[in-house]
Amino acid sequence: MTATIIDGKAFAGRVREKVAAHVARLKEEHGITPGLAVVLVGDDPASEVYVRSKGKMTKAVGMLSLEYRLQADAAQDEVMRVVAELNANPEVHGILVQLPLPRHMDEAEVLAAIDPAKDVDGFHISNVGLLGTGQRAMVPCTPLGCLMMLRDHHGDLTGMDAVVIGRSNIVGKPMAQLLLGESCTVTIAHSRTRNLADVVRRADIVVAAVGRPKMVPGDWIKPGATVIDVGINRTEDGLVGDVDFASAVEVAGAITPVPGGVGPMTIACLLANTVTACCRAND
Ligand code: GUN
Repeated sequence: MTATIIDGKAFAGRVREKVAAHVARLKEEHGITPGLAVVLVGDDPASEVYVRSKGKMTKAVGMLSLEYRLQADAAQDEVMRVVAELNANPEVHGILVQLPLPRHMDEAEVLAAIDPAKDVDGFHISNVGLLGTGQRAMVPCTPLGCLMMLRDHHGDLTGMDAVVIGRSNIVGKPMAQLLLGESCTVTIAHSRTRNLADVVRRADIVVAAVGRPKMVPGDWIKPGATVIDVGINRTEDGLVGDVDFASAVEVAGAITPVPGGVGPMTIACLLANTVTACCRAND
C-alpha cells in the first residue's frame, strides 16, 4: 500500500485563508493592520526568492509588508540600526532578518537585538527559552508548520516515538521541543548518530531536516510511519527532499512531498505568527 500524501500546499492555502479572515477582522473591529518587515542583506539568489515570496503573500492576506535591503558589504551597525528602527515602529508587529547573513556579520548579535515580541522567526534566545520551558513563545515557522500537519493527520500525538534527524537551531531543536510538548518520546539524531537506520526504524514519526538529498531510504522507515521531509535540496534531478520519496512512499503511512509539503507551510506559519504577535501587542 502506498502512503497518504500530506498536501502541504493545500494545507498552507487553508492557513492563509484563516489568517486573511483574522486580518480583516482586526481591521474592521479594531482598526489595526498587522505589519511584517523583512530584512535582506546581500543578494543571495535563494534568499531573494524567499523574500519576494514572503512579501507577496503578506500583501495577499491583507497585511502591511515592509522590505529593507542592505548591500552585501553593509556594516553590522547598519543592520543593527534597521532592527532598532523596526523595534520602535508601532506599525511593525513582526521582524524577520533573512538568514544566512553575510559572513562578516555577527548573526547572534542581530537576532538578539530583535524585540522578542516581534520575533516572528522565534530565533531570539528569550523565545528559545520560553519554548524549551513549555511557556508561551514565538515558535519557529518551519517546525510549527510540521507540527500543524502532524496534528492534522494524527490528532493526538501522545506517546508516539518521534525521531528528528537534524539538530539545527532553526528546525531540529525546536521541532524536538514541540514534539516533547505533545508528549511524544523524542530522539534527536544527526549526521554523527551511530546506527541511524536502526534509530529511524523505531519511529512512528520521522522528521528529516539534515539537508542531504535522499539520505533516508524507504527501508529505514517503519511500515505505517508518518514522514515529514523538511529537506529542500537542489540537485540535477531538480528539488528533492532528505527522504527518498519513491521508496519511502511504498512503506510510510503518510508522507510530505518535496516540493509541496513543508515548504509552503513555512510562509503560512510566518503570516500566522505575525497575526499572533499583533494580537499579543494589542492585548
Ligand atoms: N533562512 C532559511 N530559513 C529561514 C527562516 O526560517 N527564517 C529566516 N529568517 N531565515 C531563513
